[in-house]
Amino acid sequence: MSFRTIEWRDNKVIMIDQTRLPAEEVYNEYTDFQGVAEAIRGMIIRGAPAIGVAAAMGVALGARDIIADNFDSFYRQLENVCDVLGRTRPTAVNLFWALERMKRVAQQHRDLNLNSIREMLKAEAISIETEDLKICREIGRHGAALIKEGATILTHCNAGGLATAGYGTALGVIRAAHEAGKGIRVIADETRPWLQGARLTAWELMKDSIPVTLISDNMAGWLMRNGEIDCCVVGADRIAANGDTANKIGTYSVAVLAKENRIPFYVAAPISTLDLKLSSGDEIPIEERTPTEVTKIQGVAIAPEGVKVRNPAFDVTPARYITGIITEKGVVRGDYEQGLKALVGQ
Ligand code: MRU
Repeated sequence: MSFRTIEWRDNKVIMIDQTRLPAEEVYNEYTDFQGVAEAIRGMIIRGAPAIGVAAAMGVALGARDIIADNFDSFYRQLENVCDVLGRTRPTAVNLFWALERMKRVAQQHRDLNLNSIREMLKAEAISIETEDLKICREIGRHGAALIKEGATILTHCNAGGLATAGYGTALGVIRAAHEAGKGIRVIADETRPWLQGARLTAWELMKDSIPVTLISDNMAGWLMRNGEIDCCVVGADRIAANGDTANKIGTYSVAVLAKENRIPFYVAAPISTLDLKLSSGDEIPIEERTPTEVTKIQGVAIAPEGVKVRNPAFDVTPARYITGIITEKGVVRGDYEQGLKALVGQ
């Protein structure tokens, strides 16, 4: 990859600042967990798997600074670090998955001395990052098999290298199809209000010379009706047991339009995005963000002062609109309840 989303270097966490792309490629350094929590909340880093990696690295930074003389005191403070990181963004389950995984590692090594536990936590955070890269490549491999030669693929938001440890989930499928010489083209929805599609997806695809055309969100339906889209591939923030999928606001509209126009609609996500405790998407918490994301673009007001605003950051696409869920262990279709359970049990 021609950029690094997040990395652990010299006992610091380095992240590309996604609020400044595409104008500037700036890397920020974090030395404490509070800084990492702020970076997640402020969307310096965003995208479900990348948030999970950042949270794990935040725990490793937090563990380093804990002052304790026994495991119980250390673990109580570690739980507090996890609570702070867990309060940053509610929808992407990868965040909570990563925090649970880090807590488990501490518990499993409770008989070691505290410095060894700190080292184990650092190693675990780095493995979450390296595993994610491998997982994205597997998602890409399974997904590329579904993409026809010369296909035009619509994607929404950014489920790319910037949203993961690298390579991407939806963009992983696109990258793998491109690398296989399928001659694909991408249509990127701009993704209001935060413009992940325009600012991030267009940027990273152009960097990799993958043909991309940008549209505003309200153009997708017309392009589908004109036969200009062959399939849709999007990422996910949380997938319930019945296959209902939370992803960036606007995904539901794309899915409904795709079904109306008989266009396959795929969700690409790692198994860490499954939340099988939830029976349906109705139980997924949806983040509501600040109104200024809607009333301003890059600090410039585009609406009258004082107007009422709604800003749900995600929506839920019911499973019946989803043609298939592409994971690192294969593609699930049809009966998601059974299929997803079997996948996790593997
Ligand atoms: O608010 P964001 O930018 O964190 O939302 C990101 C998305 O909705 C992505 O599509 C999702 O996290 C999948 S990323 C591989």
